[in-house]
Parts: sequence; C-alpha cells; structure tokens
Amino acid sequence: MIAVVLGTRPELIKTAPIIHELARRGSPFALIHTGQHYTPALDEIFFRDLELPPPAVNLHVGSLPAAHQVARILTGVSDALEQLKPRIVLVQGDTNSVLGGALAAHKLSIPLAHLEAGLRSDDWTMPEEGNRVLAGRVAALHFCPTELQAARLAGEGILHGVHVVGNTIVDASLRFAARSLEISTIFERLELGGRPYALVTMHRPSNVDDPQRLAALLDALATMARERGLELVFPVHPRTREKIRAFGLESKLAAPFRPIEPLGYIDLLRLLRGTEVALTDSGGVQEEACTLHVPCVTLRPNTERPETVGVGANALCDEADAGRIGAFVDDMREAPRDWKNPFGDGHTSERVVDILLNPRTRLAPSGAP
Ligand code: UD1
Ligand code: UDP
Repeated sequence: MIAVVLGTRPELIKTAPIIHELARRGSPFALIHTGQHYTPALDEIFFRDLELPPPAVNLHVGSLPAAHQVARILTGVSDALEQLKPRIVLVQGDTNSVLGGALAAHKLSIPLAHLEAGLRSDDWTMPEEGNRVLAGRVAALHFCPTELQAARLAGEGILHGVHVVGNTIVDASLRFAARSLEISTIFERLELGGRPYALVTMHRPSNVDDPQRLAALLDALATMARERGLELVFPVHPRTREKIRAFGLESKLAAPFRPIEPLGYIDLLRLLRGTEVALTDSGGVQEEACTLHVPCVTLRPNTERPETVGVGANALCDEADAGRIGAFVDDMREAPRDWKNPFGDGHTSERVVDILLNPRTRLAPSGAP
C-alpha cells in the first residue's frame, strides 16, 4: 500500500493524477491529510473539482507557528503510518506538510518518494527551500520534473533513485483545463463581458508579510493595469487577505482590482486560459501558464522553475514598480507563445506509478551505499 501525505492546495492538485492512476490500476493507497489547509476554498473544493477520494486520516493541524506545525505533522503522520503500514510514503513539493511527512517516514524507516524533487531557488529566506532540501535528503525516490533537478541532486551527492519524469501539473492542468472549458461558469459569475484582464495570485511571505512591500506591489499592479485598460482578477489567498486587513490596505483593492475568494481548480484554469498575462508568485501558476501557453510575469527575484524563463514563457520581476512590471507585461504579451513545455507530456503520473509499483525499484535511502 502507498500512503500519500498531503496538506495544502498545490499538493492536492499535483498528487491528484497519481492518486487517479493508483485507483485506475486497483493499487491500494491511503491519503493522510495533515490539515495544513482547511478553509473550504483551499481544501474541500479541490476534493470535488479533482474528484479525489476522502482522506483515510485528517490530522487537522491547522495554522500554527512553523516549528509547532511541523512537529504536529511529524507525530500525527507517524501515528497514522504505524497503523497503515504502507510500503512507500509519497510526498509532493516543499511545504511544512512535506517536511513533517518526510521526517515521519524517515523515523519509521519507510521508504520515502518525493514528487517534484530537486527544485532549488537557492533562496534560504523562503520557508520552502529548507523543506525541499531536507525532504530530499531522506528520500529514497526522487521524481524530478526535468534534468535540471537531477543535476542539482547530483551536485548534492544524491545519485540513486533519481528519475526524470516530468511534472504531474501537466497531467492535472491539461485534463482539468479541458473540463473547465465545458463546465466553468466563472466568466458569467464575474460578468467579465469579454474585457481584457490579468489574473493575479500572490501569497509568498516575501511579497505579502511586509506592509511596505505589499502596499507598493498593490499600487504598482493597479497603476500598470490602469495604463493598459486591464482588470486585475485577484483570487486572494487567506494569508494575503489576513495581511491586507492587518496592514489596513483594503482601499488598495479598489478598481482595477477585482478581489475575489480563492477559486476551485476548474474556475482557476478557465481564468488562466483567458488571461492576457498571469501575474503571480505561485510555483504552480508559473508551471500551468507555461503548460497552457499563457504568458507569465513572476513577481519574485528568483524561481525554482527556471525552465519557464528559459523557454520564454515567464519573466521575473521583483521590482514593485508599475513601469518595470508594465515593461515585462508588454514584452510577454507580444512574444510568441509557441514554446515547448519543459515539464512533460501529461503522462508523468503513469511513469511515477510504474516506478512505485515495480518490485525491482530500489527503495534504499539516497545516502545508503
Ligand atoms: C503554504 C506553504 C507554501 C504553499 C502554500 C500554498 C509552507 C511553509 N508554506 O503557504 O509553500 O505555496 O501553502 O497555498 O508550508 N490560512 C487560512 N486557511 C487555510 C490555511 C491558511 O486562513 O486553510 C491562513 C492562516 O491565517 C495562516 C496563513 O493563511 O496563518 C498561512 O498559512 P500556511 O499554511 O502557514 O502557509 P501558506 O501561506 O498557506
Ligand atoms: N489555484 C487555485 N485557485 C486559486 C489560486 C490558485 O486553484 O484561487 C491553484 C493554481 O492553479 C495552482 C495552485 O493552486 O495549481 C498553486 O497553489 P499556490 O499558489 O497556493 O501554491 P504554490 O504553487 O506557490 O506552492
């Protein structure tokens, strides 16, 4: 049996294709939900949209200071694993749920498979950088989206169990983007009426936890959009919503912003397909924009997805300045969109499950001889 530990929105999205593939093959699995995300708009709606089975266990850890959150996840996942006795534990990405789940598997000597392994921003101010490096260190299987991550792992001395398989975000976004064209009613609900808009998502602490930075970014985006006659459709992450409230910045969400609740996957993909450009600090949105041939401007100084920049699908802009953001937006809107997707062909989940279920797959920790 394979235990899938997950806890946040992107983990639900990126493990969904694996879960569907395990189910399709009749291979037993159990979902251990940490409860890191719990607001229905970040959690429940994804079980519906992605057609996921309910978790076997939900730890309901909720929002806590990072060390407490990881500790609760570690002990909770450990208890669940002792009951479930899986052959392999699968985690995806770089959240606190990943670190807690990885440590629990490690402490119980259950082989850990890390999906989306080897990504590095080299920015240790990001909470995710430590999580992904530490999870990688104890994993037995490393599922890398591209050769770039395999090379990074090799540079860290991780040579065994490394498989370049693509990214399951391609499987998920292609499948559900097609579905969203059939069933999403988001354009009607927002009464967009064919007007040009840009989709904005932001939740990284580096952008939203500092009041000056957040205020400057909101101002810059608004000015940039006004100058170009764009609306800014902005599904606001709860972290960002809380910071906007705490810093008294609500008035900055006036037009051209269209602040809305976080969206389910079906509606998000519909909006992403129709946007002039995606303005984001999200990892997943960078990958989806690249997959769906939508230009993206990433509001960060770095990215652990440099492939998107390399193929011309994404540009990095860290300056909270309307002129600078606008220049990148103009460039990206004008550039050709015929790039090749570096993240695979939409069959990553099949490759991953082939490896997970192959009895000959080596399951020793990466450091073992
Ligand atoms: C987390 C991940 C981040 C990932 C993001 C996906 C870590 C360190 N961060 O960031 O890598 O990109 O999820 O969205 O694991 N909150 C709610 N409802 C929820 C969850 C959170 O209201 O369901 C609010 C709480 O006020 C909480 C804040 O959002 O304190 C931040 O939540 P947290 O899970 O700590 O980090 P995210 O910013 O969501
Ligand atoms: N997403 C969504 N609804 C939203 C915002 C984002 O479904 O309102 C999806 C998005 O398409 C992507 C994932 O959530 O697949 C990204 O999650 P997030 O930005 O929270 O985390 P990150 O990818 O940065 O870790």
